[in-house]
Amino acid sequence: MRQLIACALLVSVACSAPPAAGGRGHGDAPTAPEPQPHAHAQRPTADHRFDDAEAWSKVFDDPKRDAWQRPAALVAALGIEPDEVVVDLGTGTGYFLESLSRAVPQGRVIAVDVEPNLLAFVERRVARQKLTNVVWRLAEKDDPKLVERLDLVLVVDTYHHIGERSSYFKRLAKQLSPRGRVAIVDFRMGHFPVGPDDSHKLAPEVVEREMKLGGYALCKSWDGLPYQYVLIFAARCPATGAPKGAS
Ligand SMILES: C[S@@+](CC[C@H](N)C(=O)[O-])C[C@H]1O[C@@H](n2cnc3c(N)ncnc32)[C@H](O)[C@@H]1O
Repeated sequence: MRQLIACALLVSVACSAPPAAGGRGHGDAPTAPEPQPHAHAQRPTADHRFDDAEAWSKVFDDPKRDAWQRPAALVAALGIEPDEVVVDLGTGTGYFLESLSRAVPQGRVIAVDVEPNLLAFVERRVARQKLTNVVWRLAEKDDPKLVERLDLVLVVDTYHHIGERSSYFKRLAKQLSPRGRVAIVDFRMGHFPVGPDDSHKLAPEVVEREMKLGGYALCKSWDGLPYQYVLIFAARCPATGAPKGAS
């Protein structure tokens, strides 16, 4: 528990603290590598639970996070249209839901996670914040259980928790609309006041390689966050879109 509190003080949303007593493992320390279809391109998957919603809310929803996570600026950078169907994949306690909900007044937000306790927390949050266009869905580790046409899949500090990522996102591509894209946000390499140790991170080049194996192209990256990279992928980049790397 002491380490969990230390982790919360660091505002580390992907920290390497072990679980509170009785848990199976909350931290981001990598486990033994899972067999990967393209082992040369992929790194170990951080496979552990985030089942203590109240404890993780202290980390994910720490008000100090807003200063570096810049949720409104990030959502604005994603170029969301008001009628889009947006997925928050690995929603956690739903930190991004209010910003996403506001961005799609005529659309819908689907909050997806593998942890029932987190989704119960999300359900309470959605009611409290009156987010009438947000629904939530319990996923399986290798299946997000998404059947609808999706315009945007946002993946914040979650990509490295997913196993066999190239094939996972290749399957997910079948659900994307013609304007569909996948935005991956994760910690940059380096020593920062927040985030895990470098050994637990994936370099953006690795993410790009894996997503290419899944059939995606990198359409845009956004440099507006101090500690995280933002990579926006699609099966085909819009011809009129900003050139790769533009902010
Ligand atoms: C570090 S948290 C990030 C939470 C949230 N995106 C945020 O930024 O506050 C990672 C989340 O991904 C979820 N997760 C892990 N593996 C997953 C998978 N295969 N599919 C969907 N969610 C997953 C975890 O339960 C956890 O809630």
